[in-house]
Amino acid sequence: MDVAQGILSQVAARPSIKVHGRKRSHRLSIQGQHLLEGLLPLLSVPLALAAQEPAQLFGQSCRNVWLEIGFGDGGHLAWCAAANPEIGVIGCEPYVNGVARALETIQAKGLGNIRIHPGDARDLLAVLPEKAVARVFILFPDPWPRKRHHKRRFISMENLNALAHVMQPGSELLFASDSEEYCEWTLAHIRSHPDFTEGVHERGDAPVTKYEAKARAAGRLPTYLRFVRE
Ligand SMILES: C[S@@+](CC[C@H](N)C(=O)[O-])C[C@H]1O[C@@H](n2cnc3c(N)ncnc32)[C@H](O)[C@@H]1O
Repeated sequence: MDVAQGILSQVAARPSIKVHGRKRSHRLSIQGQHLLEGLLPLLSVPLALAAQEPAQLFGQSCRNVWLEIGFGDGGHLAWCAAANPEIGVIGCEPYVNGVARALETIQAKGLGNIRIHPGDARDLLAVLPEKAVARVFILFPDPWPRKRHHKRRFISMENLNALAHVMQPGSELLFASDSEEYCEWTLAHIRSHPDFTEGVHERGDAPVTKYEAKARAAGRLPTYLRFVRE
């Protein structure tokens, strides 16, 4: 079993509602395979350590820990880490090809402040200590447009409870989507959750993600939502 298959079998072992789409698409490049075998084990988040003190994953210069859920090809993750060297950024992504792309960028840019959970973010949220995270990004999560698939959406009361537990008071949850209906769903969940308040809508200066670019190319204008953990 190669490394990618090992990751897939870990993800598959989770007994829970399926929330993510494909975990692997086209064949990995040789470089991607090498990075999954060589670099990923060095950057993977050991859940036992994350459960104690996630800042320790990054060394002494780490001032705060941020989390990106569903980083896709890692473009935004890498931008965040490069722009904020004093921050430790943990990215969660079960899509193996995306993890391999992110590793390529991390290596090419020499980024030392990224750690990866190559799986379902819910597994990490379940172990992180209370108030461990200072900012969370959920950018263009799978919209699951069909009604019977709504239960797969990452935004749910259960996941908001888990986020509220790990987020510091005053910290931000940044959400973006090109699905108007998913934005309304998210706003409705946030408004009925006691621990989050709705902030202003703002795009910021982050780079355009792969899915944001797809949405814009198709003429769908994304919405950016900022929520604050009270
Ligand atoms: C539509 S893509 C967006 C990727 C990227 N954020 C972007 O904007 O280009 C959604 C990503 O979320 C990931 N994802 C879905 N459920 C997840 C979960 N429970 N934990 C971590 N990532 C998840 C998927 O594998 C997919 O790569």
